[in-house]
Order: sequence, then C-alpha cells, then structure tokens
Amino acid sequence: MQTYPQPISSKLPNVGTTIFTVMSRLAAEHNAINLSQGFPDFDCAPELRELFCKYINSGLNQYPPMAGIIGLREAIAEKMQSLYGAVYDPEHEITVTPGATYAIFTAVTAFVSPGDEVILFEPAYDSYAPAVEVNGGKPVYVQLRYPDYSIDWEAVKNAITPKTRMMIINTPNNPTASVFSAEDLRMLESVLRDTNIVVASDEVYEHLIYDGHQHQSVARYPGLAERSFVVNSFGKTYAVTGWKMGYALAPKNLMMEFRKVHQFNAFVSNSPVQYAFADYMKNKDAYLSLAAFYQKKRDFFLQGLNGSRFKPLPSRGTFFQNLAYDAISDERDTDLAVRLTKENGIASIPVSVFYREPPPHKVLRFCFAKSDETLARGAEILRKL
Ligand SMILES: Cc1ncc(COP(=O)(O)O)c(C=O)c1O
Repeated sequence: MQTYPQPISSKLPNVGTTIFTVMSRLAAEHNAINLSQGFPDFDCAPELRELFCKYINSGLNQYPPMAGIIGLREAIAEKMQSLYGAVYDPEHEITVTPGATYAIFTAVTAFVSPGDEVILFEPAYDSYAPAVEVNGGKPVYVQLRYPDYSIDWEAVKNAITPKTRMMIINTPNNPTASVFSAEDLRMLESVLRDTNIVVASDEVYEHLIYDGHQHQSVARYPGLAERSFVVNSFGKTYAVTGWKMGYALAPKNLMMEFRKVHQFNAFVSNSPVQYAFADYMKNKDAYLSLAAFYQKKRDFFLQGLNGSRFKPLPSRGTFFQNLAYDAISDERDTDLAVRLTKENGIASIPVSVFYREPPPHKVLRFCFAKSDETLARGAEILRKL
C-alpha cells in the first residue's frame, strides 16, 4: 500500500463515514434486524427487471443522449402534467441523471459560488451540506420545529440575506417523515418573490404520502416552478435504489446551466435502464398504488408497537417512522442506536446525525420499507424495551 507523502488540505474536513454505512455494518456484524438504511428489503416488480434485461439483450448498451432518451423524458413530462398540471418541455427542461443525489449536487454546483449562502432545513438529508461546502458555499440552517417538524417562516425570512443563492427543500421529508402543506408552499412562494434565490426541491418520496395528504410539488406553484429544480429518484419510487437513476426538471435557462455541469461529469445515465423506465412508466398504477402499499406497512409496524414505551411521531410521508424514547432511556440517540443493535438485535438511525448541532431530542428513525415478517420481528423487540 502506498501513502500520499504530502499534507492533504481536505475540502470536506468534517465528513467521515456516513451513519448509514456504520449502522448497516453494525447490523450485519450483530445479525440485527436492519431498519436503519432507507431502502426496501423486497425486490422490485418482475416486469421492470424483465424490461431491463430485454433492453440489455437488444443491444441498447452504448451512450444514450446527454439529457436522457427522449421517450423517458416525454413520459416524465406527461406524468408532471397529469399529477401537478405542470408543463415541462422534454427537449430543454428535463434531464435524466444517475440518481437524485447527483441531480442535487449538479444543481448546487451549477449555481453556488464561493461565499454564496444556501438555506437548508434541519434535520437535513446528509448530502446537502457537503454539496454546498465542496462548492465553497455556506449552509445556513433553519431548524424545523420539534416535535411536529413544522416550518418557522419567520426564521426562514430572517435567514435570507443578499448572499443567499439557493434553498434546498425536501417534502415528504427525510428524516422527519413530515410533509409541506399547501400553505407552506404558498408561504415559500411569497417569501422568495423578488429574490434571485434558486430552489432545489428534493421530491424523491412524492408518492409515499399518507392519510389523504397531497404531495405539494413546487411544480404546482408557478412562482416556485419558475425558480426551481424538481428532483426525483426512480430508485425510491420503483424499489431499485441500486440502479441509481433519477431526474431533474427546471425552466430552460436554469436547466442549461445544469447540463453544462452534467455533461462534464456523468455526461449520460445508464442506457438500458432508461428504456426500461420509459416503458414501465406507462403503468400509472405502479406509482399511484405506492401510497396505499406503504401506508399499510406503516400501520402494520405501528400496530406491532401497541403497548410499547416508544412514542411514535407522526409519519405523514416517506418510508420512515420516528419513535421518541424519552420514557425508555436518557442515553444520547447515537449511543442508544448502537446499543439496541448490539444488545437487542435491531438497527435504527439516530435522528441527531441529521443536525450540525443536534438538539437534545430523543428520537430514532426506523425504515418500514421491509417485509411484514421483518417489521413484525422488529416491533416485537421494540415492544419489550
Ligand atoms: C431525501 C432524499 N433524497 C435523495 C435520496 C437519494 O436518492 P438517489 O438514490 O436517487 O440518489 C435519498 C435516499 O435516501 C433521500 O432520502
């Protein structure tokens, strides 16, 4: 093994191995039920696998167009129109990307220069702040209000300065499982009016929304759509996180800058996967049925927790259920998550890791995108604590 002989001045000095890797590794070592990382433990639809194989076998294995194959971009445009009444031009306003995280990173890289400020809501998905920092930007945090994780709009207004270049939002929200309301989106529209702030709206859980709530895409609001990247993930929607495929939508002049960065980074996204999704998206039921499917899983997990000392916080969207453990332990959530994995055989994610300076809340995040058998076994362990 060789070692670089000079000192390294890291561009991300505070970034280590993510908690997801740490917890999944620990879960495997201790043979624990893994409700930590956010991905399904069941396979995707067989038709989708067959389509992928079909297009590999039919030789569509070379570089596709930089923005994605047109059939897929058209299918995305049609879906945005039918769900949100939003018109996106497949030619200029839609780009297929290797995942949603990549799309957010690309949008940030295209618009954030050294010294620019980017507003993030805390707790925040862990890729946002490093994407800002590696581009020389400064994350400015607005904390969601515990325990309902609602938005303090006065705090948002106060966070905006002449240096604010961007805002990253995420609804339905990881890790809080909260969702933005129509009123939130109207507030956002009004707060951003007359600013030059670009929004990156991470909507990867758009279909995972429960109890009759409606997904509030920025695409529904003209005053937001005109300044926003809508970012989405095929991986989350179709239970194929390992295929790493997503997309971004934005007005042409924003998308032009995005594509300048994309074409010199990944340049294209996996070709046969795109053909497979272009066909599979015709089956609207595959995504329209997801809310009922995951709500059932959430309710099954919650039912299993009946009588537990864990207190469930509302899960209105995503495939996460947060549980407050004030009644069980005084430990820090990071310590408890490790102890439960080692001693009780169940892995979760401590919500404090999604904060830069964690508040003293006692909350663990559990992923319910798992088989009923796994959820039943997990709930049984938790009920006894
Ligand atoms: C809020 C959020 N955005 C993006 C992603 C990742 O999406 P992708 O795998 O398509 O990059 C995740 C995955 O956990 C997520 O929770």
